[in-house]
Amino acid sequence: MSKLLAFVTIAVLARQISAVPIYGQCGGIGHTGGTTCDSGLTCTYLNDWYSQCLPGSGGGTTTTTQPPTTTQPPTSGGGLDAKFKAKGKKFWGSCADAGLLNKAANVAVLKSDFGQVTPENSMKWDALEGTRGSFTFGNADTLVNWAVSNGKLIRGHTLVWHSQLPGWVTSVRDKAGLTSVIQSHISNVAGRYKGKLYAVSDFFQIWDVVNEIFNENGTLRSSVFSDVLGESFVQIAFAAARAADGTAKLYINDYNLDSNNAKVQGLVALVKRVNAGGNYIDGIGTQMHLEANGAGGAQAALTALASAGVQEVAITELDIKGASSNDYVTVTKACLAVPACVGITSWGVSDVDSWRSGNTPLLFDGNYKPKAAYNAVISALA
Ligand SMILES: *[C@@H]1O[C@H](CO)[C@@H](O)[C@H](O)[C@H]1NC(C)=O
Repeated sequence: MSKLLAFVTIAVLARQISAVPIYGQCGGIGHTGGTTCDSGLTCTYLNDWYSQCLPGSGGGTTTTTQPPTTTQPPTSGGGLDAKFKAKGKKFWGSCADAGLLNKAANVAVLKSDFGQVTPENSMKWDALEGTRGSFTFGNADTLVNWAVSNGKLIRGHTLVWHSQLPGWVTSVRDKAGLTSVIQSHISNVAGRYKGKLYAVSDFFQIWDVVNEIFNENGTLRSSVFSDVLGESFVQIAFAAARAADGTAKLYINDYNLDSNNAKVQGLVALVKRVNAGGNYIDGIGTQMHLEANGAGGAQAALTALASAGVQEVAITELDIKGASSNDYVTVTKACLAVPACVGITSWGVSDVDSWRSGNTPLLFDGNYKPKAAYNAVISALA
């Protein structure tokens, strides 16, 4: 991959009264705040929506490679994804990342049966911005490059999450500082891939903007984000994502949204509150890491989530202990039965690569051969 330093320093007009501190926003479409950085900092162009005060004259240590781009339309290999699309859905995807793209057998199945990829780890905060203001996009770019050159949709995952979060973020304990940190991270990451993924008319891209922010009883999980900013961090994150990529579908995502339970109801209530204030949350993702016989509540969960008034819902990280045909068909039919359900993403192709490998929860066995559940799903989609 060719490396290209893409720093453009914005001419700073000396008309502002107060200077912008390190990592603060100093420019971009719609920006009304200060445009002059503190001494020793340079207002550095990151994308049309965001310029940031970075150390030195060249923008600190941020390394920028050219983001991938494509004119490739989405393609389907004729397998599972194609069958699901024939039923009116938008994708059946899988998680993947650079390591999994080095396995030829895995890649062959991704091409034949899956229409979307979600980075398993490469777009998490610690992978992208382990050091403040210093971005490492290599592995994320590898996945995006693969997806665009193979015509696969992408679900960006994930912008704000309490886990796989660098310690430097957790240590920011003031509201203004943490707001700026969230805005900068999202602007850099979502801005990088803005509009680069599909230059086709039915362009479709998803960002998981906030992930796993609820307790099981439906209240907000304690994290640096909720502890410092309360519920407002949700709006802050979605506003930043909307500004960074105006065409992406913006999602809230969580686990144990597997029946119409307290967590589902807490999430639905929050989505309604946030969206009452503006156009923020487009979609809700239910991960669906299920136990055996755990699929019975899936349709009720999807229906309840759709009742939040969002444009769409999706199953985002599907795996099922034991991978029984019955469980997989139940989940498939649940999505088919709920008009707002746009797609399903499996959390991996083969059992050998699964994060819960011992549960053999996926549709393909350790030799990347389709299991009984795969055939059952294909039959259910006939
Ligand atoms: C909800 O769950 C959290 C985390 O377990 C707990 O701290 C909190 O007290 C619970 N709230 C209510 C109202 O039950």
